[in-house]
Amino acid sequence: MKIISIKDLSVKYGNFYALKDINLEVEEGEIIGVLGQSGSGKTTLCKIISGIEKPTEGSLTIKKFEKTKLQFVFQDPSSSLNPRMRIRDIIAEPLIISGEKRTEVLEEKAENIIKKVGLPIEIKTKYPHQLSGGQKQRVAIARAVITEPELLICDEPISSLDISVSAQILNLLKDLWEEKKFTMIFVSHDISSIYYLAHKTIILYRGNLMEWGDTEEIIKKPAHPYTKILISSILSTDSEKKNLKIKERESYSKCVFSGVCPEYEKLCEDYLNETVKINENHFLKCGR
Ligand SMILES: Nc1ncnc2c1ncn2[C@@H]1O[C@H](COP(=O)(O)OP(=O)(O)O)[C@@H](O)[C@H]1O
Ligand SMILES: [Mg+2]
Repeated sequence: MKIISIKDLSVKYGNFYALKDINLEVEEGEIIGVLGQSGSGKTTLCKIISGIEKPTEGSLTIKKFEKTKLQFVFQDPSSSLNPRMRIRDIIAEPLIISGEKRTEVLEEKAENIIKKVGLPIEIKTKYPHQLSGGQKQRVAIARAVITEPELLICDEPISSLDISVSAQILNLLKDLWEEKKFTMIFVSHDISSIYYLAHKTIILYRGNLMEWGDTEEIIKKPAHPYTKILISSILSTDSEKKNLKIKERESYSKCVFSGVCPEYEKLCEDYLNETVKINENHFLKCGR
């Protein structure tokens, strides 16, 4: 069953396209990895899916469910947790919003979820500033999953954490998914975490969907010149490569990447930005 269907969708800020001609379908229970450099439109896509932002063109169709069944985890747990609330109340708040009033039910559910996300129970009466970054992110995740969401949007949930803590948070997300099989949008610029978690991966570049399909295919057999560069630059330790310094040239093509594409050819000038299918599980926008 489809949970999300995005058709010919664009988001414009003035004349600038934050997203352009996006087509995407998400099945219930899937984990979609969203990979792209800073400014490529990843957060805008999350906002569109959650309804915070409306498309300028095209449409988004999303399965109807209660408001509390859509939850978020953000990059910076400090700014997403109310500093004046105790951890137990922060975690229970979505249940209150969904109408639960019984104190004992709220406390019991909050305590169960505190244990489930691997936090010591004593933290329930503490405040966010008394916790480490990793603990705060566990609180944010606990709060997000307490309503048993149908759709969980994680926008760079590990980007502010150090490597060992990141790995623990990834394991936690995977364990939680294994148990409930909710749909998850997982945004990252870390390829290994996408590889670990996501069933499908989409690659964004300047608001355009460049390549999408099964994660294994995209990461092991990237077909789009941009994806190839992105993956090799992320895997590379060479700092110059990491910054994706590609020489700009004049381009006569409609392809958004043609001005910097290392595989640019004469024939790209006629390229019409159509979707190319490699197989059932692998697509790209590159007509070469
Ligand atoms: N409200 C806005 N007004 C104008 N430009 C915006 C707005 N939100 C995002 N943008 C621009 O859209 C582009 C994509 O932003 P964003 O989706 O946050 O990228 P990412 O999450 O991949 O870093 C960026 O160039 C950003 O500056
Ligand atoms: Mg972002």
